[in-house]
Amino acid sequence: MPTIVFANSKGGVGKTTSALALAQVLVRSNASVALLDADPNQPIKAWASRDPSRVPGLLTVVPDVSESSILDAIDREAQRNAFVFVDLEGTANLAVSYAIGRADVVIVPMRGSQLDADQTTRVIALIQREEQAYRRRIRHAVLFTATSPAIRSRDLAHLRQELEANGVFCLPTELTERAAFRAMMQFGGTLYDLSGAEVHNPEAAIENAEAVAAAVIDLIANKKEPNNGRAA
Ligand SMILES: Nc1ncnc2c1ncn2[C@@H]1O[C@H](COP(=O)(O)OP(=O)(O)OP(=O)(O)O)[C@@H](O)[C@H]1O
Ligand SMILES: [Mg+2]
Repeated sequence: MPTIVFANSKGGVGKTTSALALAQVLVRSNASVALLDADPNQPIKAWASRDPSRVPGLLTVVPDVSESSILDAIDREAQRNAFVFVDLEGTANLAVSYAIGRADVVIVPMRGSQLDADQTTRVIALIQREEQAYRRRIRHAVLFTATSPAIRSRDLAHLRQELEANGVFCLPTELTERAAFRAMMQFGGTLYDLSGAEVHNPEAAIENAEAVAAAVIDLIANKKEPNNGRAA
C-alpha cells in the first residue's frame, strides 16, 4: 500500500510533526498506518513511549529503522498496512535515498523562508536524480509548515510562485503554526486526545491536519496531476 516519505535535508522544518499528525488523521478514519522512524534521534519512538496507552491500535510505530533495514521495513509494512509513512533525518544520507526510491509520494515539508526554499530545491533535485536512476516518476510535493498569518501572506505566495515556476508542485493546504502540534509531540497521544484545557483550540489543529491529509490523499489518488514541471 502507498508509501509516503517525509524528506527534507534541512532540520526542523516539520517532517516529524507532519508525518505524525497526518498518520493520526488516517488512523482516525480507520486506516492502518505503519510509521517508520528512520531518524537516529528517534523522535517518533520517543513520542510513542511518552504515553503508550494513547498510541492508537491501528498505528504501528516501527523504531530503529536504519540504512540497512529501511527497504525491508518499507516492503514488509506495505504488505500489512493501508499506508506506510517514513520519517527521515534532517540530512541527506543513504536511508533518505533508499526511502525516496521506494516512495509512492515524497512530501517535502518546508517553512516559509528563502533559506528553506533553497534547501528544498536541493531535495527536489535529489528526487529527480532518483527518478532518472530508477526510470520512474516519483510523485512529490512541497508542504508549507508552521505557517502563520505573519508569514502567510506575501512571502509565502512569492515562494510558492517561485517553486511552481520551476515545476515544483506545492500542496494547496498548509500545516499552520499551532500549539496543539507542539503539545502532541511533547505529551504523547494524538491530536484527538488533546483537550481545550491543555492547549488552545485543538479542534482547529485537527481540522487543519485533516485538510492537509485530504490533499495528500488527493495527490496519491492522482485527482490532481501535478506534472512536477514535465509532461505526464
Ligand atoms: N505546524 C506546527 N506548529 C507548531 N509547531 C511546529 C509545527 N511544525 C513543527 N513545529 C515545531 O518545530 C520543531 C521542529 O519540528 P519537527 O521536529 O517536526 O521538524 P523535523 O523536520 O522533523 O526536524 P528534524 O530535521 O530535526 O527531524 C518542533 O519543535 C515542532 O514542535
Ligand atoms: Mg524529525
